[in-house]
Amino acid sequence: MYDAKTQKEYIQTGKALLDQPDQVSVEQLPILRKLLRFHEWKYYVQDDPIISDYEYDMLFKTLERLEVAHPELVTPDSPTQRVGSDLSSDFATVTHLSPMLSLENSYNAEDLEDFEQQVRKLTGEEGPITYVVEPKFDGSTVTLIYENNYLVRGATRGNGQQGDDITPNVKTMPTIPLSADFSARSIHKVELRGEALIRKDYFDKINQQRAIDGLPLFANPRNAAAGGLRMKDPKEAAQRRLDTFVYQMTFAQDLNGNDATDKFASHSEMLQYLSEIGFLVPNDLIKVCKNITEVSDFCKWAEANREQYPYEIDGMVVKVNRLDLQKQCGFTSHHPRWAIAYKFKAKQATSILEDVIYQVGKVGAITPVAKIKPVELAGVTVSSVSLHNEEFIRSKDIRIGDHVVVERAGDVIPYIVKSLPDLRDESVKPIAFPTHCPSCQTTLVKEEDVAAWRCPNYHCPEQVIQRMVHFVSKNAMNIDGMGESQVRKFYDLGWLNNFDDIYRLPYDKIRSLEGFGQRSADNLQKAIEASKNNPIRRLLYGLSIHHLGRKASKLIAGQVKHVLDLKDWDLEQFTSIKEIGPILAENVMAFFKIPENISLLESLESLGVNLNQTEEDLPVELPTDGPLSGKTILFTGTLVQMKRKEAQTLAEKAGAKNISAVSKNLNILVAGEKAGSKLKKAQALGTVKIMDEQAFLDLIS
Ligand code: IVH
Repeated sequence: MYDAKTQKEYIQTGKALLDQPDQVSVEQLPILRKLLRFHEWKYYVQDDPIISDYEYDMLFKTLERLEVAHPELVTPDSPTQRVGSDLSSDFATVTHLSPMLSLENSYNAEDLEDFEQQVRKLTGEEGPITYVVEPKFDGSTVTLIYENNYLVRGATRGNGQQGDDITPNVKTMPTIPLSADFSARSIHKVELRGEALIRKDYFDKINQQRAIDGLPLFANPRNAAAGGLRMKDPKEAAQRRLDTFVYQMTFAQDLNGNDATDKFASHSEMLQYLSEIGFLVPNDLIKVCKNITEVSDFCKWAEANREQYPYEIDGMVVKVNRLDLQKQCGFTSHHPRWAIAYKFKAKQATSILEDVIYQVGKVGAITPVAKIKPVELAGVTVSSVSLHNEEFIRSKDIRIGDHVVVERAGDVIPYIVKSLPDLRDESVKPIAFPTHCPSCQTTLVKEEDVAAWRCPNYHCPEQVIQRMVHFVSKNAMNIDGMGESQVRKFYDLGWLNNFDDIYRLPYDKIRSLEGFGQRSADNLQKAIEASKNNPIRRLLYGLSIHHLGRKASKLIAGQVKHVLDLKDWDLEQFTSIKEIGPILAENVMAFFKIPENISLLESLESLGVNLNQTEEDLPVELPTDGPLSGKTILFTGTLVQMKRKEAQTLAEKAGAKNISAVSKNLNILVAGEKAGSKLKKAQALGTVKIMDEQAFLDLIS
């Protein structure tokens, strides 16, 4: 239907319109509609979207804005006139008790303020307005009807008026009660709206199993959920383990057929009730906000922490809390006027791969890096994306000049999801992986079963620089004020060829270098001096021995009195340390067999760098029978009864392991006064036991 050339034109037109959406004119209405139709076709028909949902929404909003200003120009086939439909002939069609509407979108604090102004205008309310902010789940909509307390029907969204009857599938979902006590509130017949979705971790498991079974993988949890709702065999639907969160009561009648939605005064009261009678309500991510500033703060917080949430969410939904105010706001044919979605920044976007450069790592591994036309992803401009290795490039069939889909999820580094081969023209070139090192021109080598090509020249300038950068980095010798740019400068000046040169830097000359002053040179000197007293685990890690990470460095440091003792260690000694395998052992042994390395270490020692095991290197023995044995713990906020370090020591004595970040692996969070984001993150996870300082002390005593 659309050839490659046309598709490319559409992408370019789209980008031009998106650059300045406010400038789009009435004359451009036809092209805007064509553009949206094209992207709908890519999304729905081809199942291969090439712009992000966010970009699509922006285009759609632009069209809506122009059509609202010029209703006489609305055409019957305009994308705004369509209500999305997913009706299937495999199921009976049923009519919803109230139409299923969409939500208006907002993207920032300003949009939310406009929303509040609109609500004030519609209701005449001048006092404070409270809102409920809840997650906007990225799953598949379901609607449930209960009569006389019994679940009588479950249906999909369909076209908004009518949906597919999927009652047997809905009945397999453990999060949907088959009966619930609505009559306590004199409700006889009720329609609820909710979203069916799969936990992200379970979704990964489903895909792993599908890969083993040779089945095509699901692109995302939403597709897996939507498919699950429509399985013909309810047993198969049950295997998808869909959870359904409810978020709205769209219809309620008492025994006499009178409206019963007024049994609740507010949306939050209604959610609370649904939760009490057994429905799944996302209590841990719902907040009742006293004003619109609180709303936007909470939305921003949720966006920053979205990856921690066990389910995929693509935004938040802001709802006016008081139901009488909701009534006064009313609906348009498209959305309720008392609610708005706050959409998170897109994680995906399309760009063009303009070039590939090759980086040489500290042990010589060559990493191809794509230089792409800068795009904004989740609020950050991205222009470089790692392509990992040659195999990655081949398997994804990525070429120079390609349109590529790039994703950046939360703190995860950006990566290329796929190339879009349909959009190629003659100018596209295959990526020719180099045969020689880009830094020293040595012929590259590749070991069997290893993905990366490597430069085997230990003295390769780029490797020397990268080793040095690693040596001074935070987790190694932790020399503040020295990073890649300083290392490069000193290297170019001939001052740095090996680690010991760091301890011979000419500070008098550094003081007069451009970009340095007395102060920064002094600070650098202090940081370098301080690093001499580091525990030896830092030095070992800083040496860039292949595969020797932080953990293994620490384990070895705990077993050796002096670094140079390692000269005499044999394979058995290394591998007797749990977690150290023969490959790593061979690498460390090889390092200590090379005479230059030994003289390097001797030279470091003569310059004052510590090579003796320190207190900090000794392994901490966690008791296995303490009250907190086997648990991980984290202290946050201000503790009043003791210092944090003391608390951590107490926790260790009780058998707990102190960790530094809130994640799935954290068991206990001790929240002191003014605990901030870590506490919120732990609450959002829902799996962490949260306690205050006193409760912690009680627990260990
Ligand atoms: S309220 C009249 N709340 O978003 C009620 N919708 O564009 C309007 N969605 O597919 C919807 N989470 O299924 C509402 N907490 C939430 C939601 C939510 C997800 C979905 C909904 C629909 C789309 C609306």
